[in-house]
Amino acid sequence: MFKYYWRVSLGQEMKGHVPTPPELADEMVAELFAEHPPADGDRILFPGTGKGRFVAAVERYCAENDYPFPEGAAVDLDPGLLAEAREQNGDTAVEFREEDFLAADCDYGQFDYVVGNPPYVPIEGLSEEEKTRYKHEFRTAEQRFDLYMLFFERSLDLLADGGRLVFITPEKFEYTHTTEELRRLMTQYHVERIEHVPEDSFAGHVTYPTITTIHDRDGEETRVVRRDGTVDTVELPRDGSSWASTVRAGDTDAYDYDTGVTLGDVTKRISCGLATGRDSLYVQSEEEVPEQLVEEGWTYHTTSGKQLSVNDGPDSGDVIICPYDGHGNLVAEDELGAFGDWAELHREELESRSCVEKGKVWYSWHENPPMADIYGVEKILAKDVCDPPEFYAERDGNVIPRHSVYYIIPENPDDLDALLEYLNSPKARAWLEANAQKAHNDYYRMQSKLLKKLPVPEEIGETKQTTLV
Ligand SMILES: C[S@@+](CC[C@H](N)C(=O)[O-])C[C@H]1O[C@@H](n2cnc3c(N)ncnc32)[C@H](O)[C@@H]1O
Repeated sequence: MFKYYWRVSLGQEMKGHVPTPPELADEMVAELFAEHPPADGDRILFPGTGKGRFVAAVERYCAENDYPFPEGAAVDLDPGLLAEAREQNGDTAVEFREEDFLAADCDYGQFDYVVGNPPYVPIEGLSEEEKTRYKHEFRTAEQRFDLYMLFFERSLDLLADGGRLVFITPEKFEYTHTTEELRRLMTQYHVERIEHVPEDSFAGHVTYPTITTIHDRDGEETRVVRRDGTVDTVELPRDGSSWASTVRAGDTDAYDYDTGVTLGDVTKRISCGLATGRDSLYVQSEEEVPEQLVEEGWTYHTTSGKQLSVNDGPDSGDVIICPYDGHGNLVAEDELGAFGDWAELHREELESRSCVEKGKVWYSWHENPPMADIYGVEKILAKDVCDPPEFYAERDGNVIPRHSVYYIIPENPDDLDALLEYLNSPKARAWLEANAQKAHNDYYRMQSKLLKKLPVPEEIGETKQTTLV
């Protein structure tokens, strides 16, 4: 079960369309109207309505409780989905509008209620034109923004005085750097409740979904419902800083870490990737690196920590030019071939590196790569400074991780999937976040000694014991 970008796995489907299961829509609608039942003349907005799951849920709720159905507007870009929504909810007082909810010229008026499951489309899924337009129009369109953030901003803007909004989105907005402005915006309202719902709430899609209730009124206390069922009342920081420690406080209490097995016990190696002392020379894109270096085998695939998270995996399109043999020994100067010709062109710059000043050979890296250990074996990679900690499989075994990446090599290759699933689980994440050193912006620092101490499930240790026997 891994982190999942809804859009990416949807193949042919419309931008960010993952329908909300009816039970979840019912639960959210009950939350929307809890202690604030709809009255005559109220208005409700369904942004990114898809097939109209929330329209149907509001209809059920109002019928069961004998409330008037508010006057509604349901917006979606997709005519096919809207047609289905109309067909299924045709007799409700809802105007179905085929429109871009994020368009500059939208004219909806104000709403007493907003409810929905906005599209989750990361910046990589947007065109250049969309990125520029959104950055111009939305204060939350910062850094690596995502469409759901803009849906929050526009919807909050359309909320009438005293209005309520309930959205289900990924939980990431609580702590990432990119969502700082969104957190600042949200806390200008009353974030009434945050519920971390089970990871398997969207059948077939593993996410970390969160239901957020925002009320357009003053208020400082937020009810937090965690995945383990514990409930707390907290005060969220209002300056845009991460909510992680506030929202998750005590999360580790929910788990039993006492397995007697650690990640260090079930791995061959947990180390930081390689430093060349001059990545601007040694690392080049596959398209630009001189062909002869590739032909003579001087290049290997590589990734930095930043690329790992941007690309959602180790496939960066870059190669590293490597003067070491398969055992990690530096190749002698008279055997360097095309590498020697290439390095000679950059000799002055290579000689100016601190490692050469300290006595290293002029074309060597800062350290010898343990090639026998890292090349040709499947491994797990993680960015060194991150929020949240995220782990990626490197299944081809042909990627040389760079200095901003930690690599984890399972003792038993068969454990890789189980380990990866565990490392990306809320349980491992809670432990890492509680125990990691903090870097800038409250990011977490992954370190070998930290990772080695992470408790892992006994079953993984059992595999190890069987292997040893
Ligand atoms: C995650 S789906 C949720 C669908 C529905 N609300 C539900 O819960 O079943 C998000 C919806 O947003 C729509 N969408 C994406 N971008 C949009 C935009 N710019 N304006 C309006 N709708 C959009 C998609 O077509 C999709 O139906």
